[in-house]
Amino acid sequence: MRLKKVKIGDVVTENNVFLAPLAGFSDFAMRKICEDMGAGLTFTEMVSCKGLLYDNANTKDILFTVGNGIKAAQIFGNDPDVMLEAATGEELGKFDVIDVNFGCPMPKIYNNGEGSALLKDPALAEKIIRTLKKCGKPITAKMRTGLTLGDGLGLPFAKALEQGGADMITVHGRPKDRIYAGEPDYDGIEMIKNAVSVPVIANGGVFDADSADLLIERTGADGVMIARGALENPFIFADITGKKRIAESKKELIFKHVDLLKTRYDDRTVAITFRKQLCLYLKGEKNASALKQKILTLKDTDSIKREIDAALP
Ligand SMILES: Cc1cc2nc3c(=O)[nH]c(=O)nc-3n(C[C@H](O)[C@H](O)[C@H](O)COP(=O)(O)O)c2cc1C
Repeated sequence: MRLKKVKIGDVVTENNVFLAPLAGFSDFAMRKICEDMGAGLTFTEMVSCKGLLYDNANTKDILFTVGNGIKAAQIFGNDPDVMLEAATGEELGKFDVIDVNFGCPMPKIYNNGEGSALLKDPALAEKIIRTLKKCGKPITAKMRTGLTLGDGLGLPFAKALEQGGADMITVHGRPKDRIYAGEPDYDGIEMIKNAVSVPVIANGGVFDADSADLLIERTGADGVMIARGALENPFIFADITGKKRIAESKKELIFKHVDLLKTRYDDRTVAITFRKQLCLYLKGEKNASALKQKILTLKDTDSIKREIDAALP
């Protein structure tokens, strides 16, 4: 795909290949790794604005951050004033861009009138963006093409976001009822790209350089956002951007990832919490399922490294 800088308000990214917000995964270590591999912008997982105001320790942990690249924090909520208070608070102070989640399909979020539920209320979404703009930072939005395929909700919603002052819109090309499955709705993304004048980033189904090319070609979007493809293979950013890889092998990358986590957490915590990420790293490796079974029993990182060292090239 053609690389270009993206202007998000007064912030300009190095390129147009971004790491998606990923609950449970896009922590400081994953964001740093992807940034070093070439991602032009990284997003935290979504954090609750109410959680931020109540000084929730887990929320603070999600927002822990290192590295010098441009950083976005994703927030969710549906009360514009509460969201503005969170956006101007200390915890979000270290982020350059504030992104609002208008795509989460999970029942506990949706049934609370947050995330993708807001697709039904463009007026409120517009108010949220307009209010958040008072924090002075670029405000971006991540939405879906609709709740169900062809329901027509995406286009007026994107226009409302632009009307409210959104500085960039990411469109996940799947309606809410598809969750993350199936081919992206290229037409749905393209329609939005053609209707607004702020940068539009396309998201969905990028697992290698070819699928990034396809997504840009089919939608005309200004860039791509990568989620699952990055978790399985952070090298994807180097592959697409041409930046030098920060590790020569998956094994070296895994070791780097563990060491990075150990700068913040004790060894046992790292050994246990890293398991889910490790399982993604091992996808497609020889004897992956036996290796995963073994690793799920290990409680220290030296043992994990020993197993990985013996199993991977
Ligand atoms: C485990 C997981 C967690 C996710 N967490 C978030 C999140 O916190 N905020 C958000 O906007 N999207 C979230 N998403 C959606 C992704 O950002 C992305 O839109 C979706 O996975 C489609 O992109 P892909 O086809 O590249 O995976 C999550 C997806 C997955 C699989």
